[in-house]
Amino acid sequence: MTPGVRPLVAGNWKMNGLKASLGEIAAMGEAARAGGAGAAELAVCPPATLISQAAALLADGALAVGGQDCHPKGSGPHTGEIAAAMLKDAGASYVIVGHSERRADHGESDALVRAKAEAALAAGLTAIVCVGETRAEREAGRALAVVSGQIRGSLPPVAEPSRIVVAYEPVWAIGTGLTPTAADIAEMHAAIRAWLGEIYGPGGATIRILYGGSVKPANAAELLSLANVDGALVGGASLKAADFLAIAGVYRNT
Ligand code: PGA
Repeated sequence: MTPGVRPLVAGNWKMNGLKASLGEIAAMGEAARAGGAGAAELAVCPPATLISQAAALLADGALAVGGQDCHPKGSGPHTGEIAAAMLKDAGASYVIVGHSERRADHGESDALVRAKAEAALAAGLTAIVCVGETRAEREAGRALAVVSGQIRGSLPPVAEPSRIVVAYEPVWAIGTGLTPTAADIAEMHAAIRAWLGEIYGPGGATIRILYGGSVKPANAAELLSLANVDGALVGGASLKAADFLAIAGVYRNT
């Protein structure tokens, strides 16, 4: 946690979810309205096909809706792509960019991720920019150097700090049930906080830094209590409202 910074718990549904899954999102909205996440903000990033329906269920803003990726251009001949303005038009207020699955599966570079983040900001979205080292990079003692490079290369150098969220997601912790030690997470988040200060000046102190990678109800209280951990980006455990809400519930009494 960072004093004075409103935490964010965001669910990343990845390539999961049909219309039948909208009930989970409705249940998340209901619990959020009832105060189930305390002062924390909640967001869910379903597949693009469900964004407008999710947004209609959450029109009162109890839960924000986000996309999982956007194209750096505003429109044009890019078959199969989705522009940030289209996400916004469908009811999204967030978009994830630079997730490690896109960096790995689609060869996305830091420069492309930055262009996507800039497109998101231009469309009025808040960008959740993902960074994180591989297992080999951590074992080689290069985790801090790798993430430093990703932060400097992927973040828009000029941005309103409230419209940028950083998600630190070690690649080897995603979907594996493994998490770094509390000390390793705290070390990385403190380093990211310092780099954000170099890029954005005092505003860097207010940027939310989420942890992601096998966050579950069982480990959420420990992970979310760490210094400079301002929430979570949750994959698998966000597909079920009960698990997602149990994670967000960590903030109920804070
Ligand atoms: P996970 O995914 O929670 O299933 O590990 C996290 C993510 O990829 O955002």
